[in-house]
Amino acid sequence: MQTSRSDFVVVANRLPVDRVETPEGGTSWRRSPGGLVTALAPVMQRHQGAWIGWSGAADEKLDPFDTEGMHLVPVTLTAEDIELYYEGFSNATLWPLYHDVIAPPEFHREWWESYVAVNRRFAEAAADAAADNALVWVHDYQLQLVPAMLRRLRPDVRIGFFLHIPFPPTELFAQMPWRRQILDGLMGADLVGFQRPGAASNFARLARNRMGLRTRGDRIHLPDDRIVRAKSFPISIDVGELEELARKPETLARAQEIRDEVGNPEHILLGIDRLDYTKGIRQRIRAFGELLDEKRVSVDDAVFVQVATPSRERVEQYRVLRDDIELLVGRINGEHGRIGTPAINYLHTSFARNEMAALYRAADVAVVTPLRDGMNLVAKEYVACRYDDTGALVLSEFAGAADEFRQAFLVNPHDINGMKDTIVEAMHTDDRQLGRRMKAMRKHLAAHDVNVWAAAFLKALHAEE
Ligand code: G6P
Repeated sequence: MQTSRSDFVVVANRLPVDRVETPEGGTSWRRSPGGLVTALAPVMQRHQGAWIGWSGAADEKLDPFDTEGMHLVPVTLTAEDIELYYEGFSNATLWPLYHDVIAPPEFHREWWESYVAVNRRFAEAAADAAADNALVWVHDYQLQLVPAMLRRLRPDVRIGFFLHIPFPPTELFAQMPWRRQILDGLMGADLVGFQRPGAASNFARLARNRMGLRTRGDRIHLPDDRIVRAKSFPISIDVGELEELARKPETLARAQEIRDEVGNPEHILLGIDRLDYTKGIRQRIRAFGELLDEKRVSVDDAVFVQVATPSRERVEQYRVLRDDIELLVGRINGEHGRIGTPAINYLHTSFARNEMAALYRAADVAVVTPLRDGMNLVAKEYVACRYDDTGALVLSEFAGAADEFRQAFLVNPHDINGMKDTIVEAMHTDDRQLGRRMKAMRKHLAAHDVNVWAAAFLKALHAEE
C-alpha cells in the first residue's frame, strides 16, 4: 500500500522503465525510450504522478519505488498470468482481432478469465493510488476492463482511456465472445481516445447497435446520464529530442560509417520494426527480392537493411513469422548476395536510440509497410531525423500515420507489384521533389509532437462536456 496518493495516475501494462545491470552486479532502472513516458514524464513530475504497470518479469514482487520524479507501482504477474493474460488473451486474441485478423485470433475461456482477473488487479492498484477526484489515464488493449472496474471502486475519479492500436470494424469486433463485457469495460471511462477517427466511429457504432445507446457527435449517452466521449488523438513522438540526436556529429559520423559498412551503395533502404506479423515485413522483403530477380535493382547500387526487434517470442505466431522471414532473407541473399555484399542486411536485435538515429540518417528510403498499424512511430521517427529535407518515406495506407503524411509514397502492402513500382519510384525521384515532400511532412510533424498529443487528450479529459 502507498502512503501518499496521487492526483494523476497512469495505468499501462508495462512500467515505463527498463532494468539495467549495474557494474556491481545489481540491478537499477532506466527510463524506457518510448514516446509515451517522454510525453507523460513532465505531467507526472508536476503532479507527483503514479504509474502502475508490470516490470516484464514473472512472479516479481516489487515494492513501489521512485525514479526520475515518477512514483512507480509494480503489479505482479505470475508465470501463469503471463501465459494466459499477456501472451494469450492480449497477444493471441485481441492483438490479431484488432489488426484485421491478419492472423486468426484464438478464443479461449481460460485466457479470458485471466484477462478479467489481471484487469481487476490493475484496477485495484489504481484505486489505491488515486487521490480524491484524481485523474486516471488507462492505456491500451491489455487493460480495456479497467475503466469500468475502477469506476465501481472509485466513482469520484475522472477516467481516460487511450487505445494505441486500431479498433476494428464492427463486423470483426462481433467475433469476440466477450464483446459486451469489453464494451462495458471501456464505457467506464469519461473519454475513450483512438488513433484514427474511423476507430472512434467503429466504437460509437457498436455503442448504438450492440448496446442500444444514443450517440451524438463524439458523445455517447449512457442510461445513468453519464456521457462518454469517443474521439481520435493521433499519437506522436518527441520530435525535438530525436532531431537533436540526429544532428549530433557522433550520429552523423556513425551514419557515414554504416554507409561504408554496407559498401556505399547509391541507395540504402531501411525497415525497422518489432518482429510482428502486422508490420508487412514479409511483403516488403518479397517485393525487394522480386526487384532483384527482375534486375530493376542490383546489389551493386542498393542494399536493404532490415532491423527486426525481438518481440513476444513465446507466442506461436511470432515464432512462425520469424522462421518465415529468416527463410526468405536467406533465400534472397543466397541468390543475389555476394561475399561481403548481402542483398539484405537482416538484424534480429534491438538498438539504442543513437544507433537508430544513425540508421535513419543513413537511409535514403524508409520502407514502412504494415498491413495494419494504429499509428506507426517509425515513420514519424524517420521524418524527425531528416532535418535537411532529404530522404523518401514509403508508407502503407494502412498505418495511422498515412492520415498525416499524405506526401509520403503511399502503398498498399498487399499489392506487391504496386509496392515494387513505388519503391523504385521513391529511389529515383529527384532531390527537389523529395525535398518538397519531406518539408511538408516535417512541418506537420513539428506542429504535432507527443506533447501536443498528451496535452490535447488531457484537456479533453478535464473538460466536463
Ligand atoms: C504496441 C502496443 C503496446 C506494447 C508494445 C510492445 O506498441 O500498443 O501496448 O507495449 O507494442 O509490445 P509488448 O508486448 O512487448 O509490451
